[in-house]
Amino acid sequence: MQLFTKASVVALASFLGLTGAQILNSTDGTLFWFDPGLGACGFTNTSDQLVASVSADIFNSYPGATANPNDNPICQQNLTITYNGTSVTAPIVDYCPDCDDYWVGLSPVGFEDFASTDQGIVSNVTWEIV
Ligand SMILES: *[C@@H]1O[C@H](CO)[C@@H](O)[C@H](O)[C@H]1NC(C)=O
Ligand SMILES: *[C@@H]1O[C@H](CO)[C@@H](O)[C@H](O)[C@H]1NC(C)=O
Ligand SMILES: *[C@@H]1O[C@H](CO)[C@@H](O)[C@H](O)[C@H]1NC(C)=O
Ligand SMILES: *[C@@H]1O[C@H](CO)[C@@H](O)[C@H](O)[C@H]1NC(C)=O
Ligand SMILES: *[C@@H]1O[C@H](CO)[C@@H](O)[C@H](O)[C@H]1NC(C)=O
Repeated sequence: MQLFTKASVVALASFLGLTGAQILNSTDGTLFWFDPGLGACGFTNTSDQLVASVSADIFNSYPGATANPNDNPICQQNLTITYNGTSVTAPIVDYCPDCDDYWVGLSPVGFEDFASTDQGIVSNVTWEIV
């Protein structure tokens, strides 16, 4: 039995961001910081809780992702970010709609282990979804 027409499969793949390969790590990432609130995973977190976010593409192409972001298996997976001898591990709770694939975010309490929030971003970080 054919469950999907070809057009609907293409549309679904496009919605889920499956047009590219799944990316689970990078040695050339850019770290930003964000103020958590109610995130895509459905949790409400605060700036003093150590939480992480990834780009929309990585969130939506994660194995098992569906149209409901709350059910995405990437939620609560740990993201480890390493730069200049420092590593921070935090659970993923949200995505960043406008970020390039290799961008990863930490709440201020985690970002400040790498740089002051005044700096805005840290380039050339290594990260991995573990
Ligand atoms: C990084 O991801 C690629 C696939 O995208 C995988 O082949 C490789 O083993 C991963 N490296 C690490 C260190 O997890
Ligand atoms: C994020 O918020 C949820 C509740 O919405 C909570 O269960 C979880 O422990 C929080 N994460 C951290 C790292 O504090
Ligand atoms: C994430 O890391 C924390 C601390 O190391 C650990 O307790 C937790 O089980 C990890 N979560 C997952 C989903 O692996
Ligand atoms: C890297 O770490 C060293 C030692 O902690 C520090 O002196 C240096 O400023 C850091 N460099 C960058 C670019 O953050
Ligand atoms: C990041 O790495 C690239 C390539 O190694 C280098 O050209 C660039 O200057 C680095 N950027 C920063 C801000 O360190």
